[in-house]
Amino acid sequence: MKIKSGLPPLERNESEAWILPVLEDQLLDHPVLRRVDEMAQGLLRALLDCGELKGKALEIHHLFRPAGLPVQRLLLVGAGKKSDWNCAALRRLAGTAWRALNARRVGKAVLWLPDDGDPERCCQVAAEGIAGAAYESGSFKTADPPEEHLQEVTLLVSDPRARKAAEKACETGTRIGAALRFTRSLTNEPSNCLTPEAFARKVQQMARRSGLRCRVLHERQLAALGMNCLLAVSRGSAQPPRLVLLEYNPSRRASSADLIALVGKGVTFDSGGISLKPADGMEEMKADMAGAAAVAGAMQAIAALKPACRVLGVLPCVENMPGGSAARPGDVVQARNGKTVEIINTDAEGRLILADAISLAAERRPAALIDIATLTGACKVALGTVYAGLFASDQALADQLLSLADFTGEKLWRLPLDAEYSRPLQSDIADLRNIGTRWGGAVYGAMFLQNFVPPIPWAHLDIAGVDWLAEGTPYQAKGPTGFGFRTLVEFVLRYRPAAGKKARIPAR
Ligand code: BES
Ligand code: MN
Ligand code: ZN
Repeated sequence: MKIKSGLPPLERNESEAWILPVLEDQLLDHPVLRRVDEMAQGLLRALLDCGELKGKALEIHHLFRPAGLPVQRLLLVGAGKKSDWNCAALRRLAGTAWRALNARRVGKAVLWLPDDGDPERCCQVAAEGIAGAAYESGSFKTADPPEEHLQEVTLLVSDPRARKAAEKACETGTRIGAALRFTRSLTNEPSNCLTPEAFARKVQQMARRSGLRCRVLHERQLAALGMNCLLAVSRGSAQPPRLVLLEYNPSRRASSADLIALVGKGVTFDSGGISLKPADGMEEMKADMAGAAAVAGAMQAIAALKPACRVLGVLPCVENMPGGSAARPGDVVQARNGKTVEIINTDAEGRLILADAISLAAERRPAALIDIATLTGACKVALGTVYAGLFASDQALADQLLSLADFTGEKLWRLPLDAEYSRPLQSDIADLRNIGTRWGGAVYGAMFLQNFVPPIPWAHLDIAGVDWLAEGTPYQAKGPTGFGFRTLVEFVLRYRPAAGKKARIPAR
Protein backbone atom coordinates (compact mmCIF):
# COMPACT_ATOMS: atom_id res chain seq x y z
CA MET A 1 0.00 0.00 0.00
CA LYS A 2 1.38 3.35 -1.04
CA ILE A 3 0.02 6.58 0.44
CA LYS A 4 1.64 9.73 -0.90
CA SER A 5 0.97 13.41 -1.23
CA GLY A 6 0.45 15.38 -4.41
CA LEU A 7 -0.60 18.75 -5.74
CA PRO A 8 -3.46 19.59 -8.07
CA PRO A 9 -4.02 20.53 -11.03
CA LEU A 10 -7.15 18.62 -11.63
CA GLU A 11 -7.05 18.45 -15.37
CA ARG A 12 -3.93 16.37 -15.66
CA ASN A 13 -4.94 13.76 -13.12
CA GLU A 14 -5.14 10.26 -14.48
CA SER A 15 -6.13 8.47 -11.35
CA GLU A 16 -8.88 5.88 -11.46
CA ALA A 17 -10.99 7.62 -8.83
CA TRP A 18 -11.36 10.96 -7.13
CA ILE A 19 -12.57 11.14 -3.57
CA LEU A 20 -14.27 14.42 -2.69
CA PRO A 21 -15.37 15.22 0.86
CA VAL A 22 -18.61 17.23 1.02
CA LEU A 23 -19.41 19.22 4.15
CA GLU A 24 -23.07 19.26 5.09
CA ASP A 25 -23.28 23.00 5.66
CA GLN A 26 -20.82 24.00 2.95
CA LEU A 27 -21.78 21.76 0.02
CA LEU A 28 -20.72 23.50 -3.18
CA ASP A 29 -19.27 26.55 -1.40
CA HIS A 30 -15.89 24.85 -1.52
CA PRO A 31 -13.67 25.99 -4.43
CA VAL A 32 -12.66 22.45 -5.37
CA LEU A 33 -16.25 21.25 -5.46
CA ARG A 34 -17.28 24.28 -7.51
CA ARG A 35 -14.51 23.58 -9.99
CA VAL A 36 -15.42 19.88 -10.26
CA ASP A 37 -19.06 20.84 -10.70
CA GLU A 38 -18.10 23.18 -13.56
CA MET A 39 -16.00 20.50 -15.25
CA ALA A 40 -18.80 17.96 -14.87
CA GLN A 41 -21.32 20.39 -16.34
CA GLY A 42 -23.35 20.95 -13.21
CA LEU A 43 -23.56 17.32 -12.10
CA LEU A 44 -23.00 18.11 -8.44
CA ARG A 45 -25.46 21.00 -8.49
CA ALA A 46 -28.09 18.69 -10.00
CA LEU A 47 -27.46 16.05 -7.31
CA LEU A 48 -27.82 18.73 -4.71
CA ASP A 49 -30.99 20.21 -6.15
CA CYS A 50 -32.81 16.89 -6.28
CA GLY A 51 -31.92 16.25 -2.63
CA GLU A 52 -29.59 13.29 -3.28
CA LEU A 53 -26.46 14.98 -2.01
CA LYS A 54 -26.66 16.10 1.61
CA GLY A 55 -23.12 15.82 2.93
CA LYS A 56 -24.23 13.82 5.99
CA ALA A 57 -21.29 12.16 7.71
CA LEU A 58 -20.04 9.12 5.76
CA GLU A 59 -22.90 9.25 3.21
CA ILE A 60 -21.56 8.00 -0.11
CA HIS A 61 -22.29 8.74 -3.78
CA HIS A 62 -20.41 6.75 -6.35
CA LEU A 63 -20.52 8.14 -9.89
CA PHE A 64 -19.17 6.06 -12.75
CA ARG A 65 -17.55 7.80 -15.74
CA PRO A 66 -18.85 11.27 -14.92
CA ALA A 67 -18.95 13.30 -18.16
CA GLY A 68 -16.34 16.06 -18.31
CA LEU A 69 -14.04 14.62 -15.62
CA PRO A 70 -10.74 12.90 -16.43
CA VAL A 71 -11.45 10.00 -14.08
CA GLN A 72 -13.30 6.69 -14.13
CA ARG A 73 -15.09 7.31 -10.89
CA LEU A 74 -16.05 10.10 -8.57
CA LEU A 75 -16.71 9.26 -4.95
CA LEU A 76 -18.51 11.94 -2.96
CA VAL A 77 -18.19 11.30 0.76
CA GLY A 78 -20.27 13.22 3.29
CA ALA A 79 -18.14 15.02 5.85
CA GLY A 80 -20.94 16.07 8.21
CA LYS A 81 -21.28 19.47 9.83
CA LYS A 82 -18.32 21.82 9.86
CA SER A 83 -18.72 22.21 13.64
CA ASP A 84 -18.22 18.43 14.10
CA TRP A 85 -15.28 18.27 11.70
CA ASN A 86 -12.03 17.22 13.36
CA CYS A 87 -9.13 14.80 12.92
CA ALA A 88 -11.22 11.85 14.07
CA ALA A 89 -13.86 12.70 11.42
CA LEU A 90 -11.23 12.96 8.67
CA ARG A 91 -9.76 9.61 9.71
CA ARG A 92 -13.22 8.00 9.47
CA LEU A 93 -13.90 9.67 6.12
CA ALA A 94 -10.62 8.47 4.61
CA GLY A 95 -11.29 4.96 5.88
CA THR A 96 -14.83 4.99 4.48
CA ALA A 97 -13.56 6.07 1.07
CA TRP A 98 -10.89 3.38 1.04
CA ARG A 99 -13.37 0.64 1.87
CA ALA A 100 -15.97 1.87 -0.64
CA LEU A 101 -13.44 1.96 -3.49
CA ASN A 102 -11.67 -1.24 -2.49
CA ALA A 103 -15.01 -3.05 -2.56
CA ARG A 104 -15.38 -1.79 -6.16
CA ARG A 105 -11.92 -3.15 -7.01
CA VAL A 106 -10.42 0.27 -7.72
CA GLY A 107 -6.62 0.24 -7.74
CA LYS A 108 -5.68 3.91 -7.50
CA ALA A 109 -7.36 6.97 -6.04
CA VAL A 110 -6.85 10.62 -5.21
CA LEU A 111 -8.29 12.19 -2.07
CA TRP A 112 -8.95 15.92 -1.98
CA LEU A 113 -8.25 17.03 1.55
CA PRO A 114 -10.64 19.68 2.77
CA ASP A 115 -8.05 22.37 3.54
CA ASP A 116 -8.25 23.36 7.18
CA GLY A 117 -4.92 25.06 7.58
CA ASP A 118 -2.85 22.09 8.73
CA PRO A 119 -2.08 19.93 5.70
CA GLU A 120 0.54 18.01 7.67
CA ARG A 121 -1.89 16.91 10.36
CA CYS A 122 -4.54 16.17 7.71
CA CYS A 123 -2.19 13.97 5.68
CA GLN A 124 -1.08 12.00 8.71
CA VAL A 125 -4.61 11.40 9.90
CA ALA A 126 -5.98 10.53 6.44
CA ALA A 127 -3.08 8.14 5.82
CA GLU A 128 -3.76 6.55 9.18
CA GLY A 129 -7.45 6.20 8.36
CA ILE A 130 -6.66 4.51 5.06
CA ALA A 131 -4.02 2.20 6.46
CA GLY A 132 -6.36 1.36 9.35
CA ALA A 133 -9.31 0.68 7.03
CA ALA A 134 -7.29 -1.72 4.95
CA TYR A 135 -7.66 -4.42 7.55
CA GLU A 136 -9.94 -7.41 7.22
CA SER A 137 -10.06 -10.41 9.47
CA GLY A 138 -10.53 -13.77 7.78
CA SER A 139 -6.95 -14.83 7.19
CA PHE A 140 -7.88 -18.50 7.74
CA LYS A 141 -10.35 -18.68 4.86
CA THR A 142 -9.19 -21.08 2.18
CA ALA A 143 -11.45 -19.59 -0.51
CA ASP A 144 -11.86 -15.90 -1.43
CA PRO A 145 -9.53 -14.39 1.15
CA PRO A 146 -10.11 -10.63 1.55
CA GLU A 147 -8.08 -8.72 -1.01
CA GLU A 148 -6.47 -5.31 -1.15
CA HIS A 149 -7.31 -3.85 -4.54
CA LEU A 150 -6.78 -0.20 -3.69
CA GLN A 151 -3.00 -0.04 -3.58
CA GLU A 152 -2.21 3.61 -4.09
CA VAL A 153 -3.84 6.72 -2.63
CA THR A 154 -2.61 10.24 -3.29
CA LEU A 155 -3.58 12.93 -0.81
CA LEU A 156 -3.87 16.31 -2.49
CA VAL A 157 -2.72 19.39 -0.64
CA SER A 158 -3.47 22.80 -2.11
CA ASP A 159 -0.43 24.66 -0.77
CA PRO A 160 2.78 23.70 -2.65
CA ARG A 161 4.90 24.92 0.29
CA ALA A 162 3.35 22.25 2.47
CA ARG A 163 4.29 19.47 0.08
CA LYS A 164 7.44 18.27 1.81
CA ALA A 165 5.87 18.16 5.26
CA ALA A 166 2.83 16.46 3.75
CA GLU A 167 4.97 13.71 2.24
CA LYS A 168 6.57 13.03 5.60
CA ALA A 169 3.16 13.04 7.28
CA CYS A 170 1.93 10.43 4.80
CA GLU A 171 4.80 8.19 5.84
CA THR A 172 4.13 8.76 9.52
CA GLY A 173 0.44 7.98 9.07
CA THR A 174 1.26 4.83 7.12
CA ARG A 175 3.54 3.63 9.91
CA ILE A 176 0.94 4.38 12.57
CA GLY A 177 -1.57 2.46 10.45
CA ALA A 178 0.81 -0.51 10.24
CA ALA A 179 1.25 -0.56 14.03
CA LEU A 180 -2.53 -0.43 14.48
CA ARG A 181 -2.85 -3.42 12.17
CA PHE A 182 -0.31 -5.28 14.29
CA THR A 183 -2.51 -4.63 17.35
CA ARG A 184 -5.65 -5.77 15.57
CA SER A 185 -4.17 -8.89 14.02
CA LEU A 186 -2.78 -10.01 17.39
CA THR A 187 -6.23 -9.54 18.92
CA ASN A 188 -7.86 -11.49 16.11
CA GLU A 189 -5.62 -14.57 16.39
CA PRO A 190 -7.31 -17.68 17.78
CA SER A 191 -5.98 -18.85 21.13
CA ASN A 192 -4.57 -22.12 19.76
CA CYS A 193 -2.27 -20.02 17.55
CA LEU A 194 -1.62 -17.15 19.93
CA THR A 195 -0.51 -18.80 23.16
CA PRO A 196 1.37 -16.66 25.72
CA GLU A 197 4.57 -18.05 24.24
CA ALA A 198 3.57 -17.17 20.65
CA PHE A 199 2.44 -13.72 21.75
CA ALA A 200 5.82 -13.06 23.35
CA ARG A 201 7.62 -14.33 20.25
CA LYS A 202 5.65 -12.06 17.91
CA VAL A 203 6.24 -9.04 20.12
CA GLN A 204 9.93 -9.87 20.32
CA GLN A 205 10.17 -10.03 16.51
CA MET A 206 8.39 -6.67 16.27
CA ALA A 207 10.84 -5.22 18.84
CA ARG A 208 13.81 -6.46 16.85
CA ARG A 209 12.49 -4.87 13.65
CA SER A 210 11.62 -1.63 15.45
CA GLY A 211 14.80 -1.19 17.48
CA LEU A 212 13.10 -1.57 20.88
CA ARG A 213 14.74 -3.32 23.82
CA CYS A 214 12.83 -6.44 24.69
CA ARG A 215 13.08 -8.97 27.54
CA VAL A 216 10.86 -12.01 27.87
CA LEU A 217 10.56 -13.53 31.35
CA HIS A 218 9.67 -17.22 31.78
CA GLU A 219 7.88 -19.00 34.61
CA ARG A 220 10.94 -19.51 36.78
CA GLN A 221 11.94 -15.87 36.54
CA LEU A 222 8.39 -14.79 37.38
CA ALA A 223 8.48 -17.03 40.45
CA ALA A 224 11.79 -15.50 41.49
CA LEU A 225 10.22 -12.05 41.17
CA GLY A 226 7.37 -13.09 43.47
CA MET A 227 4.68 -12.66 40.82
CA ASN A 228 2.41 -15.23 42.45
CA CYS A 229 -0.90 -13.65 41.45
CA LEU A 230 0.07 -13.96 37.79
CA LEU A 231 1.31 -17.51 38.31
CA ALA A 232 -1.91 -18.47 40.12
CA VAL A 233 -3.88 -17.56 36.99
CA SER A 234 -1.51 -19.36 34.66
CA ARG A 235 -1.25 -22.57 36.72
CA GLY A 236 -4.40 -24.22 35.36
CA SER A 237 -3.16 -24.05 31.78
CA ALA A 238 -0.81 -26.34 29.87
CA GLN A 239 0.60 -23.19 28.26
CA PRO A 240 3.45 -21.56 30.18
CA PRO A 241 3.14 -17.84 30.99
CA ARG A 242 5.36 -15.05 29.67
CA LEU A 243 6.02 -11.50 30.75
CA VAL A 244 7.28 -9.19 28.01
CA LEU A 245 9.17 -6.00 28.88
CA LEU A 246 9.54 -3.51 26.04
CA GLU A 247 11.65 -0.39 26.34
CA TYR A 248 11.90 2.68 24.20
CA ASN A 249 14.75 5.09 24.87
CA PRO A 250 15.02 8.32 22.86
CA SER A 251 18.83 8.15 23.11
CA ARG A 252 21.46 6.24 25.01
CA ARG A 253 22.07 9.10 27.41
CA ALA A 254 18.43 9.87 28.06
CA SER A 255 18.21 8.08 31.40
CA SER A 256 17.05 11.31 33.04
CA ALA A 257 14.13 11.75 30.63
CA ASP A 258 10.72 11.06 32.12
CA LEU A 259 9.52 7.48 31.95
CA ILE A 260 5.98 6.49 31.03
CA ALA A 261 4.84 2.96 31.83
CA LEU A 262 2.15 1.19 29.79
CA VAL A 263 0.76 -2.09 31.12
CA GLY A 264 -1.63 -4.28 29.10
CA LYS A 265 -3.70 -7.31 30.09
CA GLY A 266 -2.60 -10.28 27.98
CA VAL A 267 -4.94 -13.19 28.72
CA THR A 268 -4.67 -15.16 25.49
CA PHE A 269 -7.79 -17.11 26.44
CA ASP A 270 -10.11 -16.59 29.39
CA SER A 271 -12.22 -19.67 30.11
CA GLY A 272 -12.88 -18.28 33.59
CA GLY A 273 -10.78 -21.04 35.18
CA ILE A 274 -12.49 -23.11 37.90
CA SER A 275 -15.15 -20.35 38.04
CA LEU A 276 -15.88 -21.44 34.46
CA LYS A 277 -17.71 -19.11 32.10
CA PRO A 278 -20.92 -20.20 30.33
CA ALA A 279 -20.37 -21.68 26.83
CA ASP A 280 -22.35 -18.97 25.07
CA GLY A 281 -19.92 -16.38 23.70
CA MET A 282 -16.86 -17.92 25.34
CA GLU A 283 -15.06 -17.83 21.98
CA GLU A 284 -14.91 -14.03 22.32
CA MET A 285 -12.43 -14.53 25.15
CA LYS A 286 -9.65 -15.13 22.59
CA ALA A 287 -9.52 -11.32 22.51
CA ASP A 288 -8.87 -11.00 26.24
CA MET A 289 -5.36 -9.88 25.37
CA ALA A 290 -6.55 -6.77 23.51
CA GLY A 291 -4.97 -4.52 26.17
CA ALA A 292 -1.54 -6.12 25.76
CA ALA A 293 -1.95 -5.96 21.96
CA ALA A 294 -2.73 -2.22 22.20
CA VAL A 295 0.44 -1.66 24.22
CA ALA A 296 2.53 -3.78 21.83
CA GLY A 297 1.23 -1.84 18.79
CA ALA A 298 1.68 1.48 20.60
CA MET A 299 5.31 0.59 21.33
CA GLN A 300 5.85 -0.19 17.64
CA ALA A 301 4.43 3.21 16.68
CA ILE A 302 6.42 4.96 19.42
CA ALA A 303 9.64 3.39 18.15
CA ALA A 304 8.85 4.83 14.70
CA LEU A 305 7.78 8.29 15.90
CA LYS A 306 10.62 8.83 18.39
CA PRO A 307 9.15 10.99 21.15
CA ALA A 308 11.42 12.62 23.77
CA CYS A 309 10.36 10.59 26.82
CA ARG A 310 11.23 7.03 27.72
CA VAL A 311 8.51 4.40 27.53
CA LEU A 312 8.23 1.03 29.24
CA GLY A 313 5.69 -1.53 28.02
CA VAL A 314 4.79 -4.41 30.33
CA LEU A 315 2.78 -7.30 28.91
CA PRO A 316 1.77 -10.09 31.29
CA CYS A 317 0.64 -13.00 29.07
CA VAL A 318 -1.21 -16.02 30.45
CA GLU A 319 -3.98 -18.44 29.59
CA ASN A 320 -6.78 -18.84 32.16
CA MET A 321 -7.84 -22.52 32.18
CA PRO A 322 -9.46 -24.92 34.67
CA GLY A 323 -6.73 -27.59 34.71
CA GLY A 324 -5.91 -29.94 37.59
CA SER A 325 -3.39 -27.53 39.05
CA ALA A 326 -5.57 -24.46 38.58
CA ALA A 327 -6.06 -21.98 41.40
CA ARG A 328 -9.21 -22.70 43.42
CA PRO A 329 -11.72 -20.24 44.83
CA GLY A 330 -10.53 -19.60 48.37
CA ASP A 331 -6.82 -19.91 47.56
CA VAL A 332 -4.59 -17.18 48.98
CA VAL A 333 -1.55 -15.88 47.09
CA GLN A 334 0.98 -13.13 47.75
CA ALA A 335 1.54 -10.49 45.09
CA ARG A 336 4.84 -8.96 44.02
CA ASN A 337 4.26 -5.93 46.27
CA GLY A 338 3.72 -8.15 49.32
CA LYS A 339 -0.06 -7.90 49.60
CA THR A 340 -2.00 -11.15 50.04
CA VAL A 341 -5.06 -11.87 47.93
CA GLU A 342 -7.88 -14.34 48.53
CA ILE A 343 -9.05 -15.55 45.13
CA ILE A 344 -12.84 -15.71 45.44
CA ASN A 345 -13.54 -15.97 41.72
CA THR A 346 -10.94 -17.31 39.28
CA ASP A 347 -12.70 -15.46 36.45
CA ALA A 348 -11.50 -12.16 37.93
CA GLU A 349 -8.05 -13.06 36.59
CA GLY A 350 -7.15 -9.88 34.72
CA ARG A 351 -6.74 -7.90 37.93
CA LEU A 352 -4.53 -10.66 39.35
CA ILE A 353 -2.00 -10.60 36.52
CA LEU A 354 -2.16 -6.80 36.39
CA ALA A 355 -1.56 -6.56 40.14
CA ASP A 356 1.90 -8.09 39.68
CA ALA A 357 2.64 -6.36 36.37
CA ILE A 358 1.67 -2.94 37.73
CA SER A 359 3.72 -3.51 40.89
CA LEU A 360 6.75 -4.35 38.76
CA ALA A 361 6.28 -1.38 36.42
CA ALA A 362 5.77 1.00 39.35
CA GLU A 363 9.14 0.02 40.82
CA ARG A 364 10.75 1.89 37.93
CA ARG A 365 9.20 5.12 39.27
CA PRO A 366 7.43 6.21 36.09
CA ALA A 367 6.10 9.77 35.84
CA ALA A 368 2.80 8.22 34.74
CA LEU A 369 1.49 4.66 34.62
CA ILE A 370 -1.41 3.67 32.36
CA ASP A 371 -2.87 0.20 32.28
CA ILE A 372 -5.31 -1.04 29.67
CA ALA A 373 -7.44 -4.16 29.97
CA THR A 374 -10.57 -5.99 28.87
CA LEU A 375 -11.24 -6.14 32.60
CA THR A 376 -14.95 -6.36 33.36
CA GLY A 377 -18.19 -7.33 31.66
CA ALA A 378 -19.68 -4.73 34.01
CA CYS A 379 -17.92 -1.94 32.11
CA LYS A 380 -19.51 -3.19 28.91
CA VAL A 381 -22.89 -3.19 30.65
CA ALA A 382 -22.33 0.37 31.90
CA LEU A 383 -20.96 2.03 28.75
CA GLY A 384 -21.85 -0.31 25.90
CA THR A 385 -19.60 -0.50 22.87
CA VAL A 386 -18.86 3.21 22.35
CA TYR A 387 -17.03 4.57 25.41
CA ALA A 388 -14.26 2.88 27.34
CA GLY A 389 -14.12 3.32 31.11
CA LEU A 390 -11.40 5.59 32.49
CA PHE A 391 -10.31 5.46 36.12
CA ALA A 392 -7.61 7.82 37.30
CA SER A 393 -5.89 8.66 40.56
CA ASP A 394 -4.80 12.01 39.16
CA GLN A 395 -6.99 14.81 37.83
CA ALA A 396 -4.41 16.17 35.37
CA LEU A 397 -3.78 12.72 33.89
CA ALA A 398 -7.53 12.10 33.55
CA ASP A 399 -8.03 15.46 31.82
CA GLN A 400 -5.15 14.81 29.42
CA LEU A 401 -6.49 11.40 28.44
CA LEU A 402 -10.07 12.65 28.02
CA SER A 403 -8.92 15.54 25.82
CA LEU A 404 -7.28 13.20 23.30
CA ALA A 405 -10.62 11.87 22.01
CA ASP A 406 -11.16 14.72 19.51
CA PHE A 407 -7.99 13.62 17.80
CA THR A 408 -8.02 9.87 18.38
CA GLY A 409 -11.75 9.21 18.09
CA GLU A 410 -11.40 6.92 21.11
CA LYS A 411 -14.03 8.06 23.60
CA LEU A 412 -13.39 7.67 27.30
CA TRP A 413 -15.81 8.15 30.18
CA ARG A 414 -14.46 8.69 33.66
CA LEU A 415 -15.78 6.38 36.39
CA PRO A 416 -15.07 6.77 40.11
CA LEU A 417 -12.33 5.56 42.41
CA ASP A 418 -13.63 6.19 45.91
CA ALA A 419 -12.65 4.75 49.29
CA GLU A 420 -16.33 4.21 50.05
CA TYR A 421 -16.17 1.24 47.68
CA SER A 422 -13.30 -0.52 49.47
CA ARG A 423 -15.27 -2.56 52.07
CA PRO A 424 -16.36 -5.47 49.80
CA LEU A 425 -12.74 -5.97 48.70
CA GLN A 426 -11.68 -6.75 52.28
CA SER A 427 -11.03 -10.40 53.06
CA ASP A 428 -11.39 -12.29 56.35
CA ILE A 429 -8.07 -14.07 55.98
CA ALA A 430 -6.00 -11.96 53.55
CA ASP A 431 -5.38 -8.32 52.66
CA LEU A 432 -7.80 -8.37 49.74
CA ARG A 433 -10.49 -10.39 47.98
CA ASN A 434 -10.26 -10.35 44.18
CA ILE A 435 -13.92 -9.41 43.68
CA GLY A 436 -16.31 -6.88 45.22
CA THR A 437 -20.10 -7.02 45.04
CA ARG A 438 -22.22 -7.54 41.97
CA TRP A 439 -23.10 -3.87 41.58
CA GLY A 440 -20.45 -1.57 40.17
CA GLY A 441 -18.22 -4.37 38.95
CA ALA A 442 -15.99 -2.10 36.85
CA VAL A 443 -15.28 0.07 39.89
CA TYR A 444 -14.23 -2.92 42.00
CA GLY A 445 -11.85 -4.05 39.28
CA ALA A 446 -10.21 -0.62 39.29
CA MET A 447 -10.27 -0.30 43.09
CA PHE A 448 -8.54 -3.68 43.37
CA LEU A 449 -5.77 -2.53 41.00
CA GLN A 450 -5.26 0.67 42.97
CA ASN A 451 -3.85 -1.45 45.80
CA PHE A 452 -0.82 -2.18 43.63
CA VAL A 453 -0.05 1.37 42.53
CA PRO A 454 2.19 3.53 44.70
CA PRO A 455 1.29 7.25 44.82
CA ILE A 456 2.15 8.10 41.22
CA PRO A 457 -0.22 9.44 38.53
CA TRP A 458 -2.07 6.32 37.38
CA ALA A 459 -4.90 5.67 34.94
CA HIS A 460 -6.76 2.47 34.15
CA LEU A 461 -8.65 1.98 30.87
CA ASP A 462 -11.33 -0.73 30.90
CA ILE A 463 -11.84 -1.62 27.22
CA ALA A 464 -14.08 -4.68 27.71
CA GLY A 465 -16.89 -3.21 25.58
CA VAL A 466 -14.91 -1.50 22.85
CA ASP A 467 -12.14 -3.87 21.81
CA TRP A 468 -14.36 -5.75 19.36
CA LEU A 469 -16.91 -4.69 16.73
CA ALA A 470 -19.73 -7.21 16.24
CA GLU A 471 -20.75 -5.45 13.02
CA GLY A 472 -18.54 -3.58 10.57
CA THR A 473 -18.87 0.18 10.01
CA PRO A 474 -18.25 2.11 6.76
CA TYR A 475 -14.67 2.76 7.88
CA GLN A 476 -13.80 -0.36 9.83
CA ALA A 477 -14.18 -4.08 9.31
CA LYS A 478 -15.93 -6.07 12.02
CA GLY A 479 -13.69 -7.72 14.56
CA PRO A 480 -10.88 -6.23 16.63
CA THR A 481 -10.79 -2.42 16.82
CA GLY A 482 -7.39 -1.84 18.38
CA PHE A 483 -9.08 0.54 20.84
CA GLY A 484 -6.58 2.29 23.10
CA PHE A 485 -3.70 2.07 20.66
CA ARG A 486 -4.19 5.66 19.48
CA THR A 487 -4.80 7.02 22.96
CA LEU A 488 -1.56 5.50 24.23
CA VAL A 489 0.49 6.68 21.24
CA GLU A 490 -0.93 10.19 21.35
CA PHE A 491 -0.53 10.45 25.11
CA VAL A 492 3.16 9.62 24.79
CA LEU A 493 3.69 11.96 21.81
CA ARG A 494 2.11 14.90 23.63
CA TYR A 495 3.68 14.18 26.99
CA ARG A 496 5.62 17.10 28.48
CA PRO A 497 7.29 16.89 31.89
CA ALA A 498 5.73 19.23 34.44
CA ALA A 499 7.57 22.59 34.50
CA GLY A 500 10.32 22.93 37.09
CA LYS A 501 10.26 19.26 37.97
CA LYS A 502 13.61 17.65 38.66
CA ALA A 503 14.70 14.76 36.52
CA ARG A 504 13.62 11.50 38.09
CA ILE A 505 16.14 8.90 39.01
CA PRO A 506 15.00 5.39 38.18
CA ALA A 507 14.72 3.15 41.26
CA ARG A 508 16.35 0.13 39.65
N1 BES B 1 -12.27 -10.89 30.42
C1 BES B 1 -13.37 -10.75 31.31
C2 BES B 1 -14.15 -9.47 31.08
C3 BES B 1 -14.87 -9.33 29.77
C4 BES B 1 -16.20 -9.69 29.68
C5 BES B 1 -14.26 -8.80 28.67
C6 BES B 1 -16.87 -9.54 28.49
C7 BES B 1 -14.92 -8.65 27.47
C8 BES B 1 -16.24 -9.02 27.38
C9 BES B 1 -12.87 -10.75 32.75
O1 BES B 1 -11.74 -11.50 32.99
C10 BES B 1 -13.95 -11.31 33.59
O2 BES B 1 -14.27 -12.44 33.43
N2 BES B 1 -14.50 -10.49 34.48
C11 BES B 1 -15.55 -10.91 35.34
C12 BES B 1 -15.28 -10.32 36.71
C13 BES B 1 -16.17 -10.88 37.78
C14 BES B 1 -15.87 -12.33 38.04
C15 BES B 1 -15.95 -10.06 39.04
C16 BES B 1 -16.86 -10.39 34.78
O3 BES B 1 -16.87 -9.31 34.21
O4 BES B 1 -17.84 -11.10 34.88
MN1 MN C 1 -12.24 -13.53 33.45
ZN1 ZN D 1 -10.49 -11.85 31.42
